[in-house]
Amino acid sequence: MPQSIEPLLRFIDASPTPFHAVANLAARLRAAGYAAVDEARAWQPGAAGKYYFTRNDSSLVAVNLNRAPAEHGFRVVGAHTDSPCLRVKPNAAAVAHGYAQLGVEVYGGALLNPWFDRDLGLAGRVTVRTTAGRMANRLIDFGRPVAFIPSLAIHLDRDANANRSINAQKELPAVLCRVSAAGRAPDFAQLLRAQLRRQYRQLDVDTVLAFELSLYDCQAAAVVGLKNEFIAAARLDNLLSCHAGAEALSGAGDNHNAVLVLNDHEEVGSASSSGADGPFLRAILRRMCADDAALERALSRSMLVSADNAHGVHPNYAHKHEANHRPLLNAGPVIKTNSNQRYATNSETAAVFRQVCERAGLPFQTFAVRSDMACGSTIGPITAARLGIRTVDIGVPQLGMHSIRELAGVKDQHTLTTALKGFYNTDDWPF
Ligand code: CO
Repeated sequence: MPQSIEPLLRFIDASPTPFHAVANLAARLRAAGYAAVDEARAWQPGAAGKYYFTRNDSSLVAVNLNRAPAEHGFRVVGAHTDSPCLRVKPNAAAVAHGYAQLGVEVYGGALLNPWFDRDLGLAGRVTVRTTAGRMANRLIDFGRPVAFIPSLAIHLDRDANANRSINAQKELPAVLCRVSAAGRAPDFAQLLRAQLRRQYRQLDVDTVLAFELSLYDCQAAAVVGLKNEFIAAARLDNLLSCHAGAEALSGAGDNHNAVLVLNDHEEVGSASSSGADGPFLRAILRRMCADDAALERALSRSMLVSADNAHGVHPNYAHKHEANHRPLLNAGPVIKTNSNQRYATNSETAAVFRQVCERAGLPFQTFAVRSDMACGSTIGPITAARLGIRTVDIGVPQLGMHSIRELAGVKDQHTLTTALKGFYNTDDWPF
């Protein structure tokens, strides 16, 4: 296995939910000298240094502030921490035909078929009342397969290969265990409490008050392919970009103002207190500036590289791509363009990213969707519209986007990280 890919694989395995991803990325940033700052704390504008802020435990903004923003602007890299998945409903536990099951809700645009016949773990955040009577958040991860969504046998559905569709309400409840004939569903809050006891040893949890939990695939991220050139893993969209952004920021120099923004809720439209369509990034950048005018001046000199995975051409479905825009795995990050502003890239920002790649000797590719197909979108256009910041949308090409297990290129991870670092460090700043 190529050495440099191992930290990404370990990060993905340790980050089954955005809450875990942010906790792990925050630890990485602390190791690189970044200090956690509580948003509720007073702030001295213009205090140079390395800081990070989190919101909802699921979004993060990190800033390496070195020069007056109004004169030098911010170099911002953005990505999203969330991935499509199955989330547990509040009153989830149910019994049907001798099985205890967990009711789930589809989060984002998940490909549902791949969720069947997987060894599913359970993780997320619980909010508890402690024995001291306080409320507190705890990360939870069962760390083992505790649930399963079995397929219906083909013998009971002879048309399955031709036209099986999925009713998310009826067909996705996950099996937890067998129960006796007169059995009741397990006390779910009790299960969570027992897991917290296992995880934290000293249990100070009095009551589990509420939770945000997801199912996830327990199969570990891996390097696959005859030539070991692919990464197979859950949540490559977009933990791969989060990891590359954090590595680039950690390795960037102290000559410029470098910012990393990692938003939750991209897969459900970004409109939330911690999402890209919320006030989080602007609030943090405002704190770095003396006044509103300084912020506006800073933004006019700033640029965002919005990193979110792109669609590589699938060899079995090549007709879904336009002939001149067919990104390949391991051929470099993709500059995404859409004149209808589903991507925020313009000629100026595409040129900046291209030049960063060329100066570092890195390959890059371009993507535009077929003119007879709808185009996806991402945090780039939303952040551009919110802040008025010039933006380029880029990302490594991948296959199987929004499947429970996606495929990306080993080389692309390194290329993206190097390109983002180049963006943070470039002295060709045109603004
Ligand atoms: Co994405």
